[in-house]
Amino acid sequence: MDFASTLKDRVQVIEGILDGYLPPIEGPQAHVIEAMNYAVRAGGKHIRPLLMQETHKLLGGQSPALPAFMAALEFIHNYSLIHDDLPAMDNDDFRRGQPTVHKAYGEALAILAGDGLLNLAFETASQALTLDDSPKTSKALQILAQKAGIYGMIGGQVVDIQTEGQSIDLETLVFIHQLKCGALFEAAMEIGAILAGASAEEEKAIVAIAADLGLAFQIQDDILDVTSNLEALGKASQADAALGKNTYVSLMGLDKAKEKVSRLTDRALTQLRTLPQSNAFLGSLILALCGRAY
Ligand code: IPE
Ligand code: IPE
Ligand code: MG
Ligand code: MG
Ligand code: MG
Repeated sequence: MDFASTLKDRVQVIEGILDGYLPPIEGPQAHVIEAMNYAVRAGGKHIRPLLMQETHKLLGGQSPALPAFMAALEFIHNYSLIHDDLPAMDNDDFRRGQPTVHKAYGEALAILAGDGLLNLAFETASQALTLDDSPKTSKALQILAQKAGIYGMIGGQVVDIQTEGQSIDLETLVFIHQLKCGALFEAAMEIGAILAGASAEEEKAIVAIAADLGLAFQIQDDILDVTSNLEALGKASQADAALGKNTYVSLMGLDKAKEKVSRLTDRALTQLRTLPQSNAFLGSLILALCGRAY
């Protein structure tokens, strides 16, 4: 099967897993549950659960806890986007080709839907302990919490917001990108590796690959903000400059940003090839996500 059809199949399976963990829209709190479903079922590329699954496969893992962690990470990603789009943050009206959650449900519901997804994520991941109660599962849970938190995604989002309209150096920009985007990529691949029983050396190599990929992914997101449009992206373009965001493009220019994406991608792929195990689909996925058009 070719890459595109395999990807389609894998995404379908992931959407089934997410559906299985999403709560039914009922009860007095049905409105917030509807907003949570609205966000998660809007699709998206599902890159983080894909990377988790493929890393797990690469290392020969067969943990029954994997699907719960794939869903948990995607729920955290969706909560981060709902909050990222709020007027108090990036103030965006479109996400994945549909009105953002606060546009469709109002700000209060959007805040609560994000909170709801964050809690659902940890409820889902902790259910994994009943499926596989080995120390690997509790370590994976700890990584999930760390990478989503103040030393991970939230930490990056805070500095991103605080430095809007200010001129910052490249080191600070890398800090922002590594945390706001890279941290969840690291969580994806590290959890996949941990659940597969990776050695400390393998885990280290996987985290280094994920860090390069996460940075490349965010730089490509910055590039697309400048070079693409709402129709292709499903979210507004030209939004970063309007907010005075510091991006790779604003600091280094478009050509240097593109060069950086390809250098990071090459380094990630080279490091992947140094591992004794191989997963051709993972290699193709890495290439596809860094060269993506949306
Ligand atoms: C968007 O992430 C936010 C960034 C970290 C750049 P994705 O591009 O993975 O968003 P979806 O899930 O595919 O919509
Ligand atoms: C968001 O980065 C990263 C998150 C943690 C949500 P951006 O603000 O650049 O993501 P988009 O462009 O809105 O998807
Ligand atoms: Mg943002
Ligand atoms: Mg944003
Ligand atoms: Mg962006």
